[in-house]
Amino acid sequence: MPRPQKHVFVCTQMRPPGHPRGCCAAHNGGAVFDEFLWHLQQRNLFNEIQVTATGCLGPCNQGPTVLVYPEGVMYARVNKEDVAKIIDEHLLKNQPVTALKMPSDFWE
Ligand code: FES
Repeated sequence: MPRPQKHVFVCTQMRPPGHPRGCCAAHNGGAVFDEFLWHLQQRNLFNEIQVTATGCLGPCNQGPTVLVYPEGVMYARVNKEDVAKIIDEHLLKNQPVTALKMPSDFWE
């Protein structure tokens, strides 16, 4: 198996309705994950890019969250329509999508 150049983690965490932290599953994290898989299949990119559905990445109120390695870039409030842009610009051209990045003050 070739070593992937990028590894994408998509939060699909579920929590019960009314949970104070909410969850990415309630904001279509699963659909975002499926959209990544669909694009990778259509473009035959499974050798270059690995996508993994994951549990909570931390900033639940910014979900669905997507984390890309090796850069460690996190995207916030990602929707299905954003996935092609992340693939085209970041995963294939190494240009992170600034407009979708987690607000920098979130981490301070
Ligand atoms: S539930 Fe997705 S970041 Fe916490």
